[in-house]
Amino acid sequence: MRNLLDTRTLGREQALRILDVAEDMADTQQREIKKLPTLRGKTVVNLFFEDSTRTRISFEAAAKRLSADVINFSAKGSSVSKGESLQDTAQTLQAMGADAVVIRHGASGAPRTLATSGWITAGVVNAGDGTHEHPTQALLDAFTLRKRLFGSDSRGRDLSGVSVAIVGDILHSRVARSNVWLLHTLGARITLVGSPTLIPQDVSAWPATIEYDLDRAIGAGPDALMMLRIQLERMNAAYFPTEREYARAWGLDGERLDALPADSIVMHPGPMNRGLEISAAAADSPRSTVLEQVTNGVSVRMAVLYLLLAGERPASEKEGAS
Ligand code: NCD
Repeated sequence: MRNLLDTRTLGREQALRILDVAEDMADTQQREIKKLPTLRGKTVVNLFFEDSTRTRISFEAAAKRLSADVINFSAKGSSVSKGESLQDTAQTLQAMGADAVVIRHGASGAPRTLATSGWITAGVVNAGDGTHEHPTQALLDAFTLRKRLFGSDSRGRDLSGVSVAIVGDILHSRVARSNVWLLHTLGARITLVGSPTLIPQDVSAWPATIEYDLDRAIGAGPDALMMLRIQLERMNAAYFPTEREYARAWGLDGERLDALPADSIVMHPGPMNRGLEISAAAADSPRSTVLEQVTNGVSVRMAVLYLLLAGERPASEKEGAS
C-alpha cells in the first residue's frame, strides 16, 4: 500500500487486510509492553492544517507504538500562516526525510494533490480533507462494528447483513462519506437519516437509502446508529431553526435510546455536542462505543502505517489505497 486517500476506491480485500492487521495490532496492545520495534528508523509527519484532538493524537500514538519517529506539524504557528504553499511545506518535509505524511486539510482533495504531485516520495494518509473523506475513521468504525457484533476474533469477516443508520449532518460530514463507501464495500446496508437540508443533493448516487424521520429509522431496528456531529464551523447558513429544535427532531435522547433493539450499538466519531445530536444518557450508556472507537483507532492507524511503511510499496498507484 502506497497511500490511503479514500475509501471510495478501497477494495474489499484491501479493507479486510487492514482490519485483520488491526486485530493483530490490538492483540499487541493488551501486552504490558505495548511498543513494537517494527518502524524503527522511519519518520512519520503529522501535517495538520485543521484542528484535531483525537485523530492527531491517535496517529501519534500509533506511530510511536511502532517505534517510528513522529514530527507534529500544525498550521497554526507555522509558516503556513505566513502564506507558505502546500508545495513548499511538503518539499520542506521531504528534505527532512519524512517516510509518511498524515495530512488533515480544510480543502477536499489536498491529500491527493500531495500524493500525486511528485513533491514528496513519502506515503500519504488522508486524516480528513474538507467534507470529502476521512478513511481511517471509517476503518475504525468498521473495526468497532465487527468486534462488537461478531465478537473478539472476527478476522476475515465482512459486514454482510449488518444494518447501519448514519444520522445527522450528512451534508458536511467526511465521516459519513467514508463510511458509506467502506461499509457498502464490506456488505452492510446503510440508511442516511437527517433533515432534507442536511442531506446532500447528489445522494442518489450513493449506495444508501434515505430516511427523513429518525423515529422511523430507529423503528426499523438497525444494528448500529452512527450519530454525527453538527459541523457548526462549516455552516454558513441556517440549516435548522434552533439547536433545541434540532435536538428534538434529530437528537438521540433517552426515549429514542430505549426504542432501539436491546443489542444495537450507538456510535459517534467525536467530538460530541452533548445535548445537541446526542444526550448524555446515550453517550454514556453501555451500548455507546465512543471510547472503544478511540481505542480501536490506534490499532487501525498502526495497521495503516505498518502496511504503508513496512509492507511492499508498488510504484504505480491504482486505488485509493494503492
Ligand atoms: C471527525 C472529523 O474531524 O472529521 N472527527 C474525528 O476525526 N474524530 C468528525 C467531526 O469533526 O465531527
